[in-house]
Amino acid sequence: MHLMVYGEYVQTPQVNFAKALADILPPSLSCTYFLNSGTEAVEGAMKLAKRYTGRTGFIACKNAYHGSTQGAESLMESDFYSSGYGPFLPNVSFIQHNNIDDLDKITEEIAAVFIEPIQGEAGIRVADLDYMQALKAKCTETKTLLIFDEIQSGFGRSGKMFAFEHYNIAPDVLLLAKGIGGGMPIGAFISSLEIMSVLSHNPILGHMTTFGGHPVCCAAGLATLRTLVDNHIVDQVEEKGKLFKSLLKHPAIKEMRGKGLMLAVEFENFEINKKIIDACILDGVLSDWFLHCSNSMRIAPPLIISNEEIEEACEIILKNINLVMEQKA
Ligand SMILES: Cc1ncc(COP(=O)(O)O)c(C=O)c1O
Repeated sequence: MHLMVYGEYVQTPQVNFAKALADILPPSLSCTYFLNSGTEAVEGAMKLAKRYTGRTGFIACKNAYHGSTQGAESLMESDFYSSGYGPFLPNVSFIQHNNIDDLDKITEEIAAVFIEPIQGEAGIRVADLDYMQALKAKCTETKTLLIFDEIQSGFGRSGKMFAFEHYNIAPDVLLLAKGIGGGMPIGAFISSLEIMSVLSHNPILGHMTTFGGHPVCCAAGLATLRTLVDNHIVDQVEEKGKLFKSLLKHPAIKEMRGKGLMLAVEFENFEINKKIIDACILDGVLSDWFLHCSNSMRIAPPLIISNEEIEEACEIILKNINLVMEQKA
């Protein structure tokens, strides 16, 4: 069923999916390397950035989540990981997401900045337009690669096919995984042919994977993309997000954040949040809390959710908020 495609062989489903991605991405993101997961996309991009720039430093954001392999964990400033599994890679510094003053830390020593335009596990934090444009300008000035981790936001969750489209800029490298396979395991790092070409020599096969680019996963990815495009599903995401925001009103809700169907509902503390989430699960509404934001509930339904299903889900969430708040009183 599968041949290792980063050697002598090419398989049609992989090429078809890569071509479909190139067709909807800017020309500078025309070259795709497929892997099996998000964290592998991060690892591949770290190697690519070191090799292309000849630099070793990285910058990442506080409260980011990039995956569970050691390179990806090096990009996360958290005792949670380093206490049990460190030390991780040296030469990584951290900036505050959405803080323009911190951009001065990006210098000519830095190979790449890794950032989620919309931070997921931080509790859905959307970067501002002026921040993202200043970040792009700083990376261009210092010839630092700008790498967007769109592993959570990728394929339409933010209301655009890719979250970077909200900012009128493009990254040098784009990371995708999770939703792009429509439930099948696949990840990708995407860049220009010029940048990606460094992986092909000295040594040849600078990055390898046995199952990356598996034809079944690539066929699933292509089918997912076609379904989204042909049925105009991404065009409906923003309105569906607005419906959630308009229906989820309650004095116990401290804040609602996010874009499209990538939303967080904040409560007073983890205990209340967890009780509401557990009660909702029993009623068939699946949610979760966030790794770096335990007082917030995740709203991340399938993009095909109907307005009726949103209304039903919100009724269940509100019912359980009332239940938990009554128990607390
Ligand atoms: C933003 C982000 N990057 C990377 C990853 C890692 O992806 P995977 O679990 O497929 O390795 C995740 C997973 O939650 C993620 O949310």
